[in-house]
Amino acid sequence: MASHTPAVRSSLSDAGSEKKLEALLQKMTLEEKVGQLVQYSAGQPTGPGTGRTDYDDMIRKGEVGALFNITTARQVNAYQRVAVEQSRLHIPLLFGLDVIHGFRTEFPIPLGLASSWDPDLIEQTARVAARETSASGIRWTFSPMVDIARDARWGRMTEGSGEDPFLGAAIARAYVRGYQGARLDAPDSIAACPKHFVGYGAAEGGRDYNSVEISEHALRQFYLPPFHAAIDAGAATLMSAFNSLNGVPTTANPFTLKQILKGEWGFQGIVDSDYTSVGELIAHGIANDGATAARKALLAGVDMDMVSSLYHENLVQLVRSGQVPEAAVDESVRRVLRVKFALGLFERPYADEAKETGAMLRPESVSLARTAAERSFVLLKNAPFSGGAPVLPLSNEVKRVALVGPLADDSNDMLGSWAGQGRAEDVIALRTALTQRLGVDRVHYAKGIEIVGGSDDQLAEAVKTAQESDLVILALGENAPEMTGEAASRAHLGLPGHQEQLLEKIVATGKPVALLLFTGRPLTLPWAFEHVPAVGAAWFPGIQVGPALVRTLFGEANPSGKLPVSWPRSVGQEPLYYDALNTGRPADNIDLTRPPKNILEKYVSRYIDEQNTPQFPFGYGLSYTQFGYGDLKLDKNQLSAKALNVQLRAGDPQTNRALSVSAEITNTGTRAGEEIVQCYVRLQGTSVALPVRALSGFQRISLSPGEKKELTFELGPEAFAFWNDQNKFVVEPARLTVWISPDSAHGERKTLDITP
Ligand code: NOJ
Repeated sequence: MASHTPAVRSSLSDAGSEKKLEALLQKMTLEEKVGQLVQYSAGQPTGPGTGRTDYDDMIRKGEVGALFNITTARQVNAYQRVAVEQSRLHIPLLFGLDVIHGFRTEFPIPLGLASSWDPDLIEQTARVAARETSASGIRWTFSPMVDIARDARWGRMTEGSGEDPFLGAAIARAYVRGYQGARLDAPDSIAACPKHFVGYGAAEGGRDYNSVEISEHALRQFYLPPFHAAIDAGAATLMSAFNSLNGVPTTANPFTLKQILKGEWGFQGIVDSDYTSVGELIAHGIANDGATAARKALLAGVDMDMVSSLYHENLVQLVRSGQVPEAAVDESVRRVLRVKFALGLFERPYADEAKETGAMLRPESVSLARTAAERSFVLLKNAPFSGGAPVLPLSNEVKRVALVGPLADDSNDMLGSWAGQGRAEDVIALRTALTQRLGVDRVHYAKGIEIVGGSDDQLAEAVKTAQESDLVILALGENAPEMTGEAASRAHLGLPGHQEQLLEKIVATGKPVALLLFTGRPLTLPWAFEHVPAVGAAWFPGIQVGPALVRTLFGEANPSGKLPVSWPRSVGQEPLYYDALNTGRPADNIDLTRPPKNILEKYVSRYIDEQNTPQFPFGYGLSYTQFGYGDLKLDKNQLSAKALNVQLRAGDPQTNRALSVSAEITNTGTRAGEEIVQCYVRLQGTSVALPVRALSGFQRISLSPGEKKELTFELGPEAFAFWNDQNKFVVEPARLTVWISPDSAHGERKTLDITP
C-alpha cells in the first residue's frame, strides 16, 4: 500500500573521500573527535536559552563541529576562518539553519505547499531556498519536516505535508532533490535534514512534545515512509525528535535509529539531535545525569548533540572510563566528516560575500512564490449567492469591494511560522494588491477586529463598510508566529478571539461574502461553512500573498489545490484522518447527523453528538470549473500475490508495473482548469486490518472546457504490499478495491482478487 520507496540511493560518498576521511580520523585526538559531534546555536535561539558565547575559543581548540542560527555570509566566514585557519586540523564547520519554506523568498507554509500536490513545484521552491541559503554560507537546512500529522491541534502540522504517507513521501523526495540538487558539493546545494525521527506528529492530545505510542506496524505503515523516501533520495542528515516512542525517547532509541535507519535503510549521514533533546532525556526519565543522557543518545545512534552541551562535557570522560567505546565515537565522527566532504566544505569553506545580496529575491524566485501561493490555495466552498452565480470568481466590473478582517492588510503573518530571513517589507499584502487592481476608490478597507481583541467601534465600522459595498472579502484566521508552529498546539480549533462574531455580523448584512482563511491548520467553523457562500483556505501564502490571491479571486488563476489533511467539523473528532481502519462496527449507511434512533444505530463506531465524516475530506478542493469522472478500467481481472512478491523483490518498483488503472476525466464546466486526480486502493482479507482507502497515485491534469482525457495510473507491486502481521513488507492474497477519484471520500471503484 504505497509504503515503500525505491531502494535507489544517491551515494553520500565515494572511495576517495572515504580514504581522506579515514586519514583525518587517524590524526584526531579524542577531544577533537568529540568536538565534531558538538553543535551550538550562535544566533537568535530557536529554543530554550543557549547560554554560550565563547565559540571562537572552542572552535580554535577543535571543540565544535557545527553552528546554527547564524544568517549572514559575513558571520559564517568569520567563524569559518577560526576553524579553518586557527584550529589544529583545519576542519571546516558545518553551518545549519531552519530554512523551512524559503530563506529570503518566503514561499507558502509547507502545509500550503503540500496542498499543491505538486512535487515538481515544491522541488523548485527548495532549489530557490538552497540558492539563497548557500549564498549566505549556510549549507545545511533543518528541513523537510516529514512528520505525518493527523491531528490539527498539533501546531506543527503547519510545517509538514499533512496526514498521508504516499503524498508525504513524494513531497519528501521533492524537498531533498531541491535542496541537495544534482550534486551536494555544488556551491549552491545544501544538505537536507528530514525530521523529526519519528512519530512526533502523533503527540498525544495534539500537545507539542507529548509522548507517543505507535505500534511497530503503524510506524512502518504510516509514519516511516516519508523518512524512508527522503533517505532514499539521498538526504545527508536526519534529526531525531523530542517525543518518546513507546516509552523510549526518540533521541535515545536504538530501534528506530540503529536498527531501522542505519541498519535496514543503510543511512550513512549524520543523525542530529533536536534542540537540547539529549539533555531532555533526563526529564523523560531515562537518565538521572548528563553523562548518562549523553551515553544513551550516542549509543542509540545520535551522532551530533544540538545545543545541550552534554556530548561536549561528557563524551571524552565516558570513553576514557570505558563506558562508551571509542569506536562508537569514531563511527559518529565519520558521519560528520562524510557530510562535510560531500558538501565540498574542505575545498570551499567560505561564502562569497559579494554575491550574497544578489542571490536574494531574484525576479524568477518571486514569480515562483506567486505560482506556489496560487497552487496552494484550496477552494473549500463556492455556492451560488441568492440563487445566482457562485460568488467566485469576482467580476472585474465590481464597483465597490469591502475588504475586511485582521489579516487583510497584513504582511507579517503572511510569512508563516519559521519565516527564515523573510521580511514583512518583501510581502505584497492582499489590500495592496487589491487596491492596485481595482483602484483606491473601489476598495474599502476595515480591519473589523484584531486576531485576538478588538473593539465594538471596529466591528461597527466594518459592518458599515460591508453595507456600503457590493461584496465583501473577509480575511480571517490565526496569528502565524504565535498560534501555529512549534509550541503552538491548540485545544480549540475555531477562529481565535472574536473573529467569528465579526464573520456573523458581516454575513448578516446580506452581502455576498468570500471568506479567506489564513491558517496553519484546518479550523473548525461549521457555521461559516453553512452560511458563507465562498470559503477558501489560503494558509499562509508567503511574500506573494496579494498578487496570488487577487489573481485567484478574479479567476486568472483557477484554484487547483487539494487538502493534504482531513478538515474536521469539531475538535472532538481529532485525530482525524482518511486512511483509518474500518473497525468491527462501522457506521456505514447510518444517518449520523442525528442521535441514534435504535440499537442498530447506537452500537456502532460513532459519536452521539457529531458525525464521523470530516467537514472536507483529505484530497478535497474545488475549482471554478467542474470535472466529471467516468469509465474506470483495470487492465487485469486478477493479480497473483506470488507474482507480485517476486516483482516487489526484483528491483525498482518504479519500472515494475503490475496493474493499469484508467479513467476518463472531463472538464464539464466553462473554464480551463487543472485537476489533481487521485488513485486509492483498499485491501481486505489480509493478515492485518488495513485502511478503508490508501492513496497510491496522483496526477495533475489540465483540461480546457469540454475536453476529455483518459488518465492511466500504472500501479507497481508496492501499491498492494503492506507491513503484515510479521512486520514484513509483502503482498498477501486479498480482495482489492481501486478508486480513481477527486478526493478520498468519493469516486467510482472496481474490485478484483489478488489470488495466492
Ligand atoms: C527545535 C525544532 O523542533 C526543530 O525542528 C528545529 O530544527 C530546531 N529547534 C532548531 O531550531
